[in-house]
Amino acid sequence: MKHLTTTADFTVKEIEAILQDAELFGKSIKDGTKLDKILEDKIIVTLFFENSTRTRSSFEIAAKRLGAEVVHLDVVNSSTKKGETLVDTAMNLDAMSPNAIIVRHQNSGVPKILSNHTNASIINAGDGAHAHPTQALLDLFTLKKHFGDVRGKKIAIVGDIKNSRVANSNIELLGRFGMEVILVAPPQFLPKTELRSTHFLKEIIDEVDAIMSLRTQTERHSSQTYASLKDYASDFCITSELLGERDVLLLHPGPVHRNIDICDALLADKRCKVLEQVSNGVAIRMAVLKKLIYDV
Ligand code: CP
Repeated sequence: MKHLTTTADFTVKEIEAILQDAELFGKSIKDGTKLDKILEDKIIVTLFFENSTRTRSSFEIAAKRLGAEVVHLDVVNSSTKKGETLVDTAMNLDAMSPNAIIVRHQNSGVPKILSNHTNASIINAGDGAHAHPTQALLDLFTLKKHFGDVRGKKIAIVGDIKNSRVANSNIELLGRFGMEVILVAPPQFLPKTELRSTHFLKEIIDEVDAIMSLRTQTERHSSQTYASLKDYASDFCITSELLGERDVLLLHPGPVHRNIDICDALLADKRCKVLEQVSNGVAIRMAVLKKLIYDV
C-alpha cells in the first residue's frame, strides 16, 4: 500500500497499527521526549487547491517532527494558472523525486487520478465531497481514546452530510470498527442511505454516545439550500439545552461555525473534544506518514 485516497485503502489491522503508532507519537509530543527522525532526508510536497487551517498545518508539523522537509506549492502563484493540467503539475512535481505529495482539491477523485501518475505517495487531504481519510482516522483515534473499544457505541453525524467528505470517510471507517452511525440532517442535506436517519435531533439524543457536528458547506451548494443559517441553527445547532447533563462526546472536524453548528457554551464544555481532535490529528498524520513513507 503506497497511496492513501480513502480509508478503505487500509485494512483494520493496518489501521490498528497506525492508531498504536499515533498513541506513541502523541505521548512523546505530550511528554516532550525525543522522537527518532525516521523521515530525515525525505521530502514532502503539500498541494492545496482549497483552503485549510488544520489539515495542512498538522501534516506539516507531523512531517517536521519526524525530520522530513516540507515544500508547499503556492497554487495561486503556480503554473496551474498558466493552463498546466493537474496531472502535468503532479508529474512535474514527481519528477523532482519527493517521497509524498499531500493533495487537497475541490473535485472528488483527484487524488486517485494523480496516484496513477506518480512514484511519490499521494495522500488525500480532502477531495470534494468524497473523502477525507486522515480526518476520519483522527476522529476514530479520538473516540477510541475515550471509549476504549468503540464496538456497539452509537454516534450521530449531524448537519450537511450530503456535501461532507468527513461524513463519508467516517461512515466507512466507524462502521468497520463496529460503531452504529445515525445520520441527522434536513432532507436537502441527507444523502441516499441505508443507515438509520432522521431529521430530528431530539429523536436520537437519549441514545447516542457521541455527536459529530458538521459545518454547512455552502461552497458546495449550487443554490441556497436553507432559508438562512439562522433557521438551520434553530433545528440543528448542538446547544446546552439539547445536551443537558448527558454524558455525550461532542466532535466537529472544524472549522466550526459558532452558534450555528455548536453553541459557544458547549465549545468550552469538557464534553467537547474539538481541540483534542486537532492535537490527535498531528499524531495520526505522523503515523500515516510513517506507514506510507518509512514502512515501505
Ligand atoms: N478538518 C479540516 O479539514 O480542517 P481544515 O479545512 O482547516 O484543514
